[in-house]
Amino acid sequence: MRTPQINLFKKSNPIKAKLIRKERLTPEKGKGKRPANEGESAIYRITLSLDHSAYPYLIGQSAGVIPPGLDPVKVEKGLPDTTYAVRLYSIASPSFSFGKTQDNIEFVIKRDDVYDENGNLLHKGACSNYICDLKEGAEVILTGPAGKKFLLPLSDYTGDLFFLATGTGVAPYFGMVEEILEHKLIQFKGNVYLIYGAPYSDEIVLREYFETMEKKHSNFKFITAVSREEKNSFDGGKLYISHRVRELANEVSNAISNNGRFYICGGPKGMEKGVIEEMFKAAKSTLSYEEFKKDLESKDQLFVETY
Ligand code: FAD
Ligand code: A2P
Repeated sequence: MRTPQINLFKKSNPIKAKLIRKERLTPEKGKGKRPANEGESAIYRITLSLDHSAYPYLIGQSAGVIPPGLDPVKVEKGLPDTTYAVRLYSIASPSFSFGKTQDNIEFVIKRDDVYDENGNLLHKGACSNYICDLKEGAEVILTGPAGKKFLLPLSDYTGDLFFLATGTGVAPYFGMVEEILEHKLIQFKGNVYLIYGAPYSDEIVLREYFETMEKKHSNFKFITAVSREEKNSFDGGKLYISHRVRELANEVSNAISNNGRFYICGGPKGMEKGVIEEMFKAAKSTLSYEEFKKDLESKDQLFVETY
């Protein structure tokens, strides 16, 4: 059984990695379905070379990134430590790297920019823009690996897996699908449901990979919820991942009673509530909502990483 290594590298003793590839996954500004008054969604696949024996991670863990230089916000406040805080990013590559070639670590990162209602840029996310602007060969300072809960079963497992994502929350499931379905790192019997929400259909990133996996593995279902293009069948409003959970109430209820696991990842923070409420309704539980949630967490059936 594999065990997660935690915080081998900290801000005081970080590890260096090198950017080897950067690929933009969403359309350039003004070239996709997103109207100009909604700004831009710039999501990248970032690949860094990193020795896995020095930095042994499990898929589901995150890595910390420390931007170089001083944080102007902290400088202005006159704080004693003006270096940037560590930002966490979900690891998107399986523990053995895609293609099992040179050791690397991959991420799916969005420029965390804020726009006004006319699409004018108000704030550029410090760390995400630092990473997304890096050129090939650039050095990156990392901490971690972080997190010991949001992990795949560590030994052989029977049960259904529900992977729920919004936006960049799809990152960990890229590596998880590869590990569990493609490389069968553990003996696994069950179905995998990836339910993935994004604002526009051309902002569903890694679609080609997941559609290929769906064709290859009959126990893998790839289900999307495109909030600003599709309407839900319940009240005609935006289609969210929680509506997909309601549509799958029978499968969800069956998974809850039979050791199934539910992973919820992405933003906005708090979006898990709508999903867990649908699970609660599907289970027809006699517990209160809070008890139901705690019960699933204590039985390793519910994992939430929203940000
Ligand atoms: P910051 O500069 O820190 O700004 C962050 C937000 O603060 C802005 O979007 C805005 O809402 C607000 N803000 C700050 N200053 C202003 C201002 N002057 N005006 C208006 N608004 C302002 N992100 C990913 O892209 N991919 C991942 O896989 C991923 N995984 C994560 C995993 C975990 C466990 C956690 C906790 C977070 C994860 N994140 C991920 C989010 C990531 O850690 C950062 O929070 C994100 O990139 C923003 O950091 P930043 O430095 O770019 O933005
Ligand atoms: P919308 O923004 O249209 O309301 P991104 O991180 O790329 O912005 O994507 C986040 C996705 O999650 C969007 O489709 C967003 O829809 C959707 N979303 C927003 N709030 C919730 C929520 N409470 N539950 C589920 N999905 C949500």
